Order: sequence, then C-alpha cells, then structure tokens
Amino acid sequence: MQVYIKFLLILSFALNLAFCDLSPQETSTTNRSLDIAYRAQRDVSRPIPIDQQSSPGFSLNSLFENKGYTMESVSNLTELLQLGARTISIDLYWNEFTSIWQLCPAPFPKNMTYDMNNVMNLTWENKTYTCQVGLTTNNIMSSLYNFISSTNTKFDANFFHLILNLKSIHYEKSNRTMALENIYFPNSEINLMGNSTLGDILAPISSYIFTPEVLASYRERKSAEVDNSESQVFYAQSNFTMPSLNTVLFGEYKRLLVNVLSNELVDSRRVYKTNSQDEKTIFLKGTLPSTVFSSAEADAFCAKVLPDHNSRSVIPFNDTISFYNNISLSTHFRYVIDSDAKPFALEDLSRYVRCGLSPILNAKSYHTTEETLLDVEHVYRDFASYFFWSWKSGEPRISSESTDLSRSSSDGSNVAYKCVVLNVEGWDVADCYTEYQIACQNQTGPNDWYIPPHNRKNYFEIDKDDCPPGYSLGVPRSSFEMAALYSAILDHDATIPVWIDLNDITVSSCFVSGGPYAQCPYQRTVTTTKFARMIAPSSIVSLVILILIFLEKILRKNTLQTNRKKYWKKVIAEHYSKHEYEGVPS
Ligand SMILES: *[C@@H]1O[C@H](CO)[C@@H](O)[C@H](O)[C@H]1NC(C)=O
Ligand SMILES: *[C@@H]1O[C@H](CO)[C@@H](O)[C@H](O)[C@H]1NC(C)=O
Ligand SMILES: *[C@@H]1O[C@H](CO)[C@@H](O)[C@H](O)[C@H]1NC(C)=O
Ligand SMILES: *[C@@H]1O[C@H](CO)[C@@H](O)[C@H](O)[C@H]1NC(C)=O
Ligand SMILES: *[C@@H]1O[C@H](CO)[C@@H](O)[C@H](O)[C@H]1NC(C)=O
Ligand SMILES: *[C@@H]1O[C@H](CO)[C@@H](O)[C@H](O)[C@H]1NC(C)=O
Ligand SMILES: *[C@@H]1O[C@H](CO)[C@@H](O)[C@H](O)[C@H]1NC(C)=O
Ligand SMILES: *[C@@H]1O[C@H](CO)[C@@H](O)[C@H](O)[C@H]1NC(C)=O
Ligand SMILES: *[C@@H]1O[C@H](CO)[C@@H](O)[C@H](O)[C@H]1NC(C)=O
Ligand SMILES: *[C@@H]1O[C@H](CO)[C@@H](O)[C@H](O)[C@H]1NC(C)=O
Ligand SMILES: *[C@@H]1O[C@H](CO)[C@@H](O)[C@H](O)[C@H]1NC(C)=O
Repeated sequence: MQVYIKFLLILSFALNLAFCDLSPQETSTTNRSLDIAYRAQRDVSRPIPIDQQSSPGFSLNSLFENKGYTMESVSNLTELLQLGARTISIDLYWNEFTSIWQLCPAPFPKNMTYDMNNVMNLTWENKTYTCQVGLTTNNIMSSLYNFISSTNTKFDANFFHLILNLKSIHYEKSNRTMALENIYFPNSEINLMGNSTLGDILAPISSYIFTPEVLASYRERKSAEVDNSESQVFYAQSNFTMPSLNTVLFGEYKRLLVNVLSNELVDSRRVYKTNSQDEKTIFLKGTLPSTVFSSAEADAFCAKVLPDHNSRSVIPFNDTISFYNNISLSTHFRYVIDSDAKPFALEDLSRYVRCGLSPILNAKSYHTTEETLLDVEHVYRDFASYFFWSWKSGEPRISSESTDLSRSSSDGSNVAYKCVVLNVEGWDVADCYTEYQIACQNQTGPNDWYIPPHNRKNYFEIDKDDCPPGYSLGVPRSSFEMAALYSAILDHDATIPVWIDLNDITVSSCFVSGGPYAQCPYQRTVTTTKFARMIAPSSIVSLVILILIFLEKILRKNTLQTNRKKYWKKVIAEHYSKHEYEGVPS
C-alpha cells in the first residue's frame, strides 16, 4: 500500500512540477532570477501600506545630462523598469513664452526649422543644452504606458512613483526683454510641441494613476468598514492611513502615483496655474507626506533603523519594538536623492533600500571601487540585484544550478534547497533539512519578533508549538519588519541564519508563505486548454491518492495519525532523492 501511495504521489509531484514551473517567457532583457526575486518580494509585501515600501529609481536628468535631451536618451527606459526601477523623477520646465511644459530647460526659438529629429544646441541663462525638437513628455508617457499595460497582470503588476519637479523658463517683462520675446514667442506650431497642462501630460496613463480622489474614497470606505486581516489591523492604527500594495494593485487596479516633490515655479503673471483637473490627478506639493533626505540625513536615519553588530545600544533594548512601530505607523514617503556633487556610493544603495528609503539616482556618473565611472543605465545593469530590501544579492539562485539543488548528498542524507532563511545579508535559499532557529512573529504586532533559544528545527519539523502563544513562524514583510527581526536576533543572542516563513516547495520558483504545503497562487494563470492539460492528469492522480490515503487511514488508524508528519517528510524526501525535476522543462 505504502509503495503505491509513494509512487503516485511522486507522479503527481512530477506532473505538477513539469507543467507548472513558473518561468516567465524569457526575452533578451528580462533576467529570470531578478523577476522571481521581485515577484516574491512584492507578494510578501502586499499587506504593507504603499508609503512604507522602498521604491528605488532614477531621475531622467541623469540620462539627459549625459546624452542630451533627445529621444535616444530615453530609448532604454523600458529596460530600466524591467531591471527593477520603481520611481522615475522628471524635471518639467514651464516655458513662459509659449505656455508649454517641456523637458528641455531652454526655450526653442521661433525661427528654427521644423523637424522632429532636429537636435540643437540652445543656450539659456548662460548654460547650453542639447535638445531635440521632437522630444516631449509624450515620449516618456507612451513608454510608461506600454510598460504598465504589458505588465498589467496579477503575475507581473508592480507599483511605480512618478516624481515631478516643477521649474520655470522665466523672464522678466521689460524693455530689455522685448528682444527675447521676439526670439522665443510662439510661431504657429513650430515651437509649440508639448502640452500646456499637467493633466494633459498625464492623459496617456491617467487610467492607471492612483489619484488623490482614489485615496479619499478609500479613506471614506475604510472608516466605515473594518478589515480583519492581521497586518491590516496593525497598519490601520496609523493616523493617515495609506492603502496596502494589495489594495492599490488588485483592489483599485492602480499602478502609479504622481507626486510633486518640488515646486520651483517662479511667481509671475505668466506662471502655470494648477487647475481642478490637476488637483484630482496629482499629489501636488504638500498633499502627500513626503520627505527628501540628504545623504547625511539618510545615513543618520539608517544608522538608527539598522541594528549594528558593533554598537547595539543605539536603541535601548526595551524600546526597540515601539521604535519600529513608531516608524512603521508614521505615514511617509521617504526619498533620498543624490547630486553630481555627491553621487551615491554604490554600497550605500542597498543600505538605503534596507532601511526603508527610496534612493533616486540623479547624478551623471557613479564610481565603483575600481574607479570606473558608470552612468545610471550601467548602475542598473550591474547592480540590479542589490536593490532588494529582502533578498541577498543573487538570490534566489536558479537556472542551471537548480538541478543540483534537490538530491541526496554524498552521504545519502536528503537535501532540498527550497526554503528561505534570514542571513546576514538578507534572504537566502537554504536546505530545508538543515536545522536552524526559528523567527517567531507576534501575530498582531509585526515588529515584535521572538527567537526561541535552544530550539533548532529543520523546516518540515517546524510546528505551531515552537513559537509562544500569540506568535507564529513569520516572514518580514517590509524593511522595517526586517530591521526589527535583525534587532531581535541581536537582543536574543540568536544565531543567524534563522528560518522565515517562505519556500518554493510546491511549485519551483513560486515563493509562498504559510508553511511547507502552501499553494502557489499562480498555478491557474494559464490558458484554459493548457490548464486542462495541466490539471487533468494530476487531479486524477490526486483523487486516487486521496482514496488510497483514506483506505490506509482505515487500515492503520493509529500509526498514520502519530507518524503523519514524519511520513510526509519521508515521502517528499524520497521524491527529491529520486527525481530531479525542478528546472525548466526542456
Ligand atoms: C541602450 O542599451 C543598449 C544595450 O542594452 C546600449 O548599447 C545602448 O547604448 C543604450 N542606449 C543608450 C541611449 O544608452
Ligand atoms: C534665429 O534667430 C537668431 C537670433 O535672432 C539668430 O541668431 C539665428 O541665426 C536664427 N536662426 C535661423 C535658423 O534663422
Ligand atoms: C552642440 O555642441 C557640441 C559641443 O558642445 C557639438 O559637439 C555639437 O556638434 C553641437 N551640435 C550642434 C547641432 O550644433
Ligand atoms: C550670465 O553671465 C553674465 C556674464 O558672465 C552675467 O552678467 C549674467 O548675470 C549671467 N546670467 C545669469 C542668468 O546667470
Ligand atoms: C521703456 O520704454 C518706454 C518707451 O519706449 C519708456 O517710456 C520707459 O520708461 C521704458 N522703461 C524702462 C523701465 O526703461
Ligand atoms: C500633448 O502633447 C502631445 C504631443 O505634442 C499631443 O500629441 C497630445 O495630443 C497632447 N495632449 C493633449 C491632451 O493636448
Ligand atoms: C526602558 O528601560 C529604561 C531603563 O531601563 C527605562 O527608563 C524606560 O522607561 C524603559 N522604557 C520603556 C518603554 O519601558
Ligand atoms: C515617533 O516618531 C515621531 C516622529 O516621526 C517622533 O517625534 C517621536 O518622538 C517618536 N516617538 C518615539 C516613542 O520614538
Ligand atoms: C496619532 O495622533 C495622535 C494624536 O494626534 C498622537 O498622539 C499619536 O502619537 C499619533 N500616532 C502616530 C503614529 O503618529
Ligand atoms: C541576472 O541577475 C543575476 C543577479 O541577480 C546575475 O548574476 C546574472 O548574471 C543576471 N543574468 C543576466 C543574463 O543578466
Ligand atoms: C503582540 O503585539 C501586541 C500589539 O503590539 C501586544 O499588545 C501583545 O501583547 C503582543 N503579544 C504578545 C504575546 O506579546
């Protein structure tokens, strides 16, 4: 009897693995490892309010300053988004001569020849800029629109910030400046490329924008109804509640917010006046609690948030939980933006992300340790794997290694690299059969962690009783929850690594929390014919297994009850030792 069950179980496993492996359609630019890591991080942080999530990115300035204000400079925008950039910062210039928003910081003269591809050197206020006549905000919005609509699925959707910095191309009207007007005043459509209101600029992506209106209606509903999910209850204590990532992406179906971080418009008779449409679409300056940290402020903030092994006394022991609760509950979008004078050191980037800030790359070039200079595109290509608050760089390991990840080791013991630990540098995929300490999380206070001392378990043995009442095996869902866990590990003198509640046991590369048997939510995101093919054989097998298990239960009531966990462990172990199915089916 046992043999049949094992055989069928293995068969079902094999079929599942063969048909449900979650490899995205590989294109030249997507990196499978990054894709999986970002999806896992997104899924884990779904219950967290959007303001508490680090959203690293770059400013278009850094592209334009290097290569000119041309269409070619923004031709790789999509690639940057695929590599994990979540924030785009744009400087918009209000041209007082033409009353048009433009990207080029200098006005276009009216006597120029009309040609979209014309690239000109323009001087304004003693600086010369290389600008292409045809480049408008529309080029950026259409790239953004294409990317957002092509990733508008439960599998791929992510949330973006569009930061706007408003500036003026200003002149004082006087006898002296009459000449300027003669040069720059509008001339039919020749120097009138672009839009004249912020609302028009954002029109192409307007259906995806998380607007002040959406927020207001969310707040209204929120105060009426009570959400019972545990993390929601904790984060709902905040005075200025932001909806969770899950609510925004999969409840409101919104994909980005537009946040005016600075408004340097020069006050004049010709200044841009926001209209009611703008107010409904955009978070104008001051309407969203946001802070821009200087590098020094960011360093000080991170020193407080991230526990330091050398000086663990930054926060008094007994106050750590309330410290992290206080940060988690004070609604704030926290950005740190660099400049040419002081570009980020690359090793700072991952630290900023880890302490909950959103670093925005804004300098022309960056130094690596070997003194080579990199532009933003290179920084993203080379350092993409460091922009995670969760995973250690390079994790989760996949591809060709994966066939080696689950099999018997040389001494015949079982090995399954499918469970996630918290390591010094972040999450790491570890062998489920190794014994580590366990990260227990207070079910109603996510920053409250307890590491039971002298209790090492392998992943399959972890039991409800291993955590004290009110706690359970947990996974940090935000940078702050993770920092609180590191801090608890120090306080309890625990040994890193510790198990967290995350694994890809049921479906390879689909990381889920909820114990070893948690189901991958994406199994059914396939076409119906594919779905039928996928589910038919394994469901028949499962049915047979169920019947056999039922029979076995009747025949051997007692032993099955008591040995159940060991039994399952053995079955799964057996499977891993005999089959090496986890790769991409070729
Ligand atoms: C875009 O990326 C490709 C390589 O991926 C690179 O060769 C090209 O120079 C980039 N374009 C710009 C404008 O930097
Ligand atoms: C446009 O006008 C400016 C100043 O009046 C002059 O310097 C420039 O040569 C003119 N350009 C063309 C293409 O006529
Ligand atoms: C603009 O200036 C740069 C040097 O500053 C020069 O290399 C380039 O040829 C100029 N472009 C035009 C269109 O005049
Ligand atoms: C441009 O430079 C001239 C002389 O160098 C100076 O007098 C003028 O104030 C400068 N204009 C601006 C806007 O900086
Ligand atoms: C501007 O020019 C007009 C006449 O051309 C003159 O009356 C006026 O005083 C001038 N203003 C200034 C500020 O120079
Ligand atoms: C905004 O500008 C673009 C490019 O000039 C144009 O195609 C589009 O129609 C404008 N949008 C509105 C709403 O005027
Ligand atoms: C933490 O401990 C210090 C001294 O041991 C005490 O003064 C302080 O009130 C405590 N704070 C809390 C929140 O219990
Ligand atoms: C909580 O945070 C606010 C500012 O964010 C600060 O003023 C206050 O002192 C903090 N309270 C505690 C107990 O840390
Ligand atoms: C919320 O507001 C109350 C009173 O206005 C204040 O006492 C409390 O500290 C605030 N909480 C947070 C997390 O800012
Ligand atoms: C994908 O990213 C990983 C790091 O996360 C890196 O090691 C690997 O070389 C990248 N692969 C490609 C094809 O860029
Ligand atoms: C869990 O956290 C809540 C809220 O922070 C607290 O009231 C409760 O006492 C904690 N539970 C335990 C078992 O410590």
